[in-house]
Amino acid sequence: MSLLHAVGPTLDLREFRLLRDYVNQFCGIYFADDSAYIFERRLRERLRDLGLEDFVEYYRYLRYHPNAESELENAAEVLTTNETYFFREAYQLRAFTDEILPVVRARALARGAKRIDVWSAGCSSGEEVYTIAMLIEASGLFEGWDVRVFGNDISRRVLRKARDATYTSASFRAMISDYERFFISTDEGKQVHPRIRSMCHFGHLNLMNERRAAIVGRVDVTFCRNVLIYFDDTSRQKVLDSIYQRLHRGGYLLLGHSESLLQSGTAFEIAQLTTDIVYRRPIPYTELPPRKL
Ligand SMILES: C[S@@+](CC[C@H](N)C(=O)[O-])C[C@H]1O[C@@H](n2cnc3c(N)ncnc32)[C@H](O)[C@@H]1O
Repeated sequence: MSLLHAVGPTLDLREFRLLRDYVNQFCGIYFADDSAYIFERRLRERLRDLGLEDFVEYYRYLRYHPNAESELENAAEVLTTNETYFFREAYQLRAFTDEILPVVRARALARGAKRIDVWSAGCSSGEEVYTIAMLIEASGLFEGWDVRVFGNDISRRVLRKARDATYTSASFRAMISDYERFFISTDEGKQVHPRIRSMCHFGHLNLMNERRAAIVGRVDVTFCRNVLIYFDDTSRQKVLDSIYQRLHRGGYLLLGHSESLLQSGTAFEIAQLTTDIVYRRPIPYTELPPRKL
């Protein structure tokens, strides 16, 4: 029985679950049974591009074709939501600037390093990465420091856009006028200033691949906003464990406003800031500075 009355190949429930679970294992994204029609509609585009008759053939392709890995990435690409914009969730960015950056600075100096590393996990077309770099630059706390903001995504298409760094109006819907100075007008749109671009790096990385996540190095802060909401619990836990491993002790994790770790068994501790709740990799008791008597 088809899940949808539509033109083109259709999925029955058994096929849907088979494909859904296979894609889920690869990239973490999960479609419940009641959103099968969205899954079917989006993947139909892949069948058309590959000239395949039905979803059973597509499943075989994903499992056994020499190009299976790259096709799994294509499937992830059509199934993901890439919505993003500059200065998304301003209250959280305020907490980052006013309360997190000064702590990160002090800890780095205590380690003897004038270096700050921030990771935007699931960065889409780069607006979040450049926002973070602009906030660091505008804080004035890191002049002469080695500043590195790294963004990764599973989609090569959005990463091309991120590296191009040129944006049109939809990306500026929450823009803050003070930061206009970090853009240059071009015929195609507004381009991020080279000074900010030089702090930002992008890489193709599937967050489900824990081994490859080592390319991120150690970071002071991770933003993973509006990514894990599309994952099932097991995949979410796997990615959170990997993020935890990449953070310095005392490093911070910032999730999207509708996301919380309260229900999950996690090693992160809660840090209650003035305008937001964020998460932190605990500092072992033995590494805490001695208390003044
Ligand atoms: C809704 S966007 C969020 C962008 C940005 N973090 C923000 O909050 O504005 C989610 C991004 O996560 C990416 N993504 C989803 N699953 C991923 C995975 N397994 N590995 C890497 N990126 C993934 C998607 O491709 C998409 O670009």
